[in-house]
Amino acid sequence: MTLTRPRDRVLILDYGSQFTQLIARRVREERVFCEIHPPTRSVEWIRSWAPSAIVLSGGPSSVYEEDGPGVEPELLHMDVPVLGICYGMQLIAELEGGRVEYGKREYGRAELRLREAEGLFAGFAREHPVTVWCSHGDHVDQPPEGYRVVASTEGLPVAAFRAEDRAIYGVQFHPEVAHTPEGDRMLSNFLFRVAGCRPSWTASAFVEESIAAIREQAGSRSVICGLSGGVDSSVAATLVHRALGDRLTCIFVDNGLLRKGEREGVERTFRRHMGMELLVADAREEFLEGLAGVDDPERKRRIIGGIFIRVFERTAREAGKDASLLVQGTLYPDVIESLSVRGPSATIKTHHNVGGLPDDMPFELIEPLRELFKDEVRRVGQELGLSEAFVARHPFPGPGLAVRILGEVTWERLEVLRDADAIFLEEIRAAGLYDEIWQAFAVLLPVRSVGVMGDARTYECAVTLRAVTSRDGMTADWYRFPPEVLARASTRIINEVAGVNRVAYDISSKPPATIEWE
Ligand code: XMP
Repeated sequence: MTLTRPRDRVLILDYGSQFTQLIARRVREERVFCEIHPPTRSVEWIRSWAPSAIVLSGGPSSVYEEDGPGVEPELLHMDVPVLGICYGMQLIAELEGGRVEYGKREYGRAELRLREAEGLFAGFAREHPVTVWCSHGDHVDQPPEGYRVVASTEGLPVAAFRAEDRAIYGVQFHPEVAHTPEGDRMLSNFLFRVAGCRPSWTASAFVEESIAAIREQAGSRSVICGLSGGVDSSVAATLVHRALGDRLTCIFVDNGLLRKGEREGVERTFRRHMGMELLVADAREEFLEGLAGVDDPERKRRIIGGIFIRVFERTAREAGKDASLLVQGTLYPDVIESLSVRGPSATIKTHHNVGGLPDDMPFELIEPLRELFKDEVRRVGQELGLSEAFVARHPFPGPGLAVRILGEVTWERLEVLRDADAIFLEEIRAAGLYDEIWQAFAVLLPVRSVGVMGDARTYECAVTLRAVTSRDGMTADWYRFPPEVLARASTRIINEVAGVNRVAYDISSKPPATIEWE
């Protein structure tokens, strides 16, 4: 598909709000491409990026702070529609000569009264209040000259404004959060009515463009891809396979830390169904030797990352493959972290596709998914012909079951966990709940507890089951199972998995817990 004019794209300047990613997700859900960038981008840079519209996010700063993040005045005179949200609105007001009142906290629901049903509020009924959600310390007290108030709430006389002569809007509330039920309509009005964007960010357009970009980057070179069997690396590999055909070689490393049936499933899907060249390296012993006696989670990750690279390079070399161009399934949320105004966030766990890869890898990377959110990866996977069941698979961490075995990883413990995990997932599937859950798995605890089986005392392992709902893995809530599903999983695990006499269910949300136990 050739696009007649470049794809519309929205620039989101991130002033540090916890909701900035949500703005991006909402825009993408409207099928308009967008990227989040730090507010330090110069007007020159922005001009060359050529946005169709700009959104200034909220943020924790105050416009009266001396070194709070700002915006270049010219940005409002580039003939590009701008929407300022919360702090973004206050920046517009400040810059254009309005007044911002300092330090009157407001948090929660408010009822918005509209003065006009146009622009952002096109299609709304003026006579009906609209529920919106606020979270701010400062607010605009008086709009700049040449700006009109278009909506207010009881506590906020200037809840939304617009410039009379340009497409510049500000809203004090947060249209991007679910608590503003009609926020999607407002954002869609901004994108399509105000900014004249087209919904051109579709999976098929993405596939076409990516294939061209991959061909250009690879030139006549061959490419290798570490296939983990997860959705991201599988979609990335399939996309590169479409672009380069048999110049792609996939390497699947069996590190012994996989779930039951995983290796066979990958071989079936990619070698047989997709016809890809797939090298399988059986490195189970090497990994287990490396992990012997190690119980620190971060050390486990580093060891796994190190061995992975060694095995990967060796496998490629032995097969006579040039391993200088490597496919990675990096997603957009990983990229945003390093670009954000807050700087790279503190390391809670060293996440990586394969866990703790060294920084100085001698590879050039092809990262075809680095612009996508997880749900978009799934849509692209479907577009590429991967089955619905395959793309809907739960995420699985690169270091595999090693971070689900607390304490030392041994083959025996791996087998116990694999069996318990498989039963839990079987029961979830049988209850038809798999697609409601973001991730579900079993964890093997480093404790033994007393039980009784038949008439004998047992002293065996305890397993915890974990199942969470989430949109993107960054926050999560524990899944409320019908009790009978947990009951069946527990009974089967204790009866069928030798060495387990106790099953618990994890009812912690993230934060403060994390999804994985290590
Ligand atoms: P946490 O445990 O940080 O996990 O709440 C969030 C998501 O990331 C996955 N995860 C990993 N993925 N390498 C990965 O590729 C890792 O080291 C890793 N640690 C956690 C986790 O499964 C969840 O989906």
